[in-house]
Amino acid sequence: MGPRTEFYEIAVRSGFYGLDQSSLQGKKDNVRKFWEDMSIKLWLRPLIEERLARRPRLRVVDLGCGSGEGLELLSHIPVRSHADHADRDFLVDAEAIEYAGVDLSPAMVEQGRRNYAGRPNVRFVQADLSAGFPLAGEPPFDLYFSSYGSLSHLTAAALTELMVQLFKHAGDDALIVLDLLGRYSPEWPCHWPGSNREMLPYNMAYLLPAAERTPDRIEWFRNTFWSADELEALVRGAAVRARRRAEVAVLADRSIFVGRHIETGLFGAPAVPLRYQVNRLLDHGYRGQLEHLRVNLSPLAEHAATYPRVWQALNRHAAQWNSVIELVAALMVQRDDEVRRLIEMTPAPLSDDMKMLAWLCRNGERFPVADVWASVIGPQVAMVLRGLELGQEEALGCGHALFAVVRVKTAE
Ligand SMILES: C[S@@+](CC[C@H](N)C(=O)[O-])C[C@H]1O[C@@H](n2cnc3c(N)ncnc32)[C@H](O)[C@@H]1O
Repeated sequence: MGPRTEFYEIAVRSGFYGLDQSSLQGKKDNVRKFWEDMSIKLWLRPLIEERLARRPRLRVVDLGCGSGEGLELLSHIPVRSHADHADRDFLVDAEAIEYAGVDLSPAMVEQGRRNYAGRPNVRFVQADLSAGFPLAGEPPFDLYFSSYGSLSHLTAAALTELMVQLFKHAGDDALIVLDLLGRYSPEWPCHWPGSNREMLPYNMAYLLPAAERTPDRIEWFRNTFWSADELEALVRGAAVRARRRAEVAVLADRSIFVGRHIETGLFGAPAVPLRYQVNRLLDHGYRGQLEHLRVNLSPLAEHAATYPRVWQALNRHAAQWNSVIELVAALMVQRDDEVRRLIEMTPAPLSDDMKMLAWLCRNGERFPVADVWASVIGPQVAMVLRGLELGQEEALGCGHALFAVVRVKTAE
């Protein structure tokens, strides 16, 4: 009998030997995992901690759940301090979540059922949320969750009706999580003049390799884009109609310069590789390429006069972002005078992050890694950039997504 290879034949056919670039591009790239998912986890953490202190289990409905991504996200929220939780990594285990995923797509629902087969606490329901909340006959949920633009597939009128139904369904002190496409993202200046009263063209061409983003391969559909004012008005109006009190506990712009379409150039802005570069920073094998990491807003300058608040907010954010990139550039070539100047002219807390980066660079040889820039400093630069976004004081709808957590209370 000759040498046997059938194990390898199966392994190749199962896809284990394909080229893996998943950290630098694709659906679950580094930015999705370490920036976008993590921002959502950090916004939710204090609110979920509060709830878990009262009751150790969570009842969750995931609206537009895909194949159950919300369950993965919610069951992987890092604990705040290992001193308090030496025996666990995450705030709440998947087993402690009573999870119902609702999605329009039969294929998504089927995939979800396959992913979580044999898990009695997980179920999937196929339903159209634009026709209303399909689980209205069930006991209330603690968390009415949605992520990654699911509810932007609904018209503003349908989302308003859905919110009224959720407000009525929720018990005291439930949370509703919304993640909608932001109107004023630098990815799509062509949509800035719109309003949530009309749905506008959108696509997911970013999932295709750049060379394949040809008109015949791109499928366009319509989505609703939201400004912060429009979302707050929706929440207020729906709460009044449901006779509930609503408090917006979190309102934030997510993925301001790293949204997926920042590199497709399909919506009237030039394609720039910012997300790819942050993916490189986050990967332990690659360095970010500084010449491609600077944010240049000048192609959007024609909108400055019409949208002064958006323009100012984007410019403030870009100036901070670029000062981090300048600092890294100065650290790389050991220009200590420039490093000092940048740190001195920057207010806290960013100046503290800059000092930390300077310390890492100056102590690089202490780290037992092959390339300290790729493995240690790059990921921390990305975290500082993410921290800038998390620290934004006011949300306008100028990120890829507008993220909100609404606390539902009984009206007084
Ligand atoms: C961008 S995906 C997000 C999936 C998942 N939440 C995630 O975090 O990756 C949007 C999802 O919304 C679902 N969807 C779109 N329109 C819907 C509707 N009218 N009712 C229910 N689900 C819908 C789609 O089938 C899709 O699974």
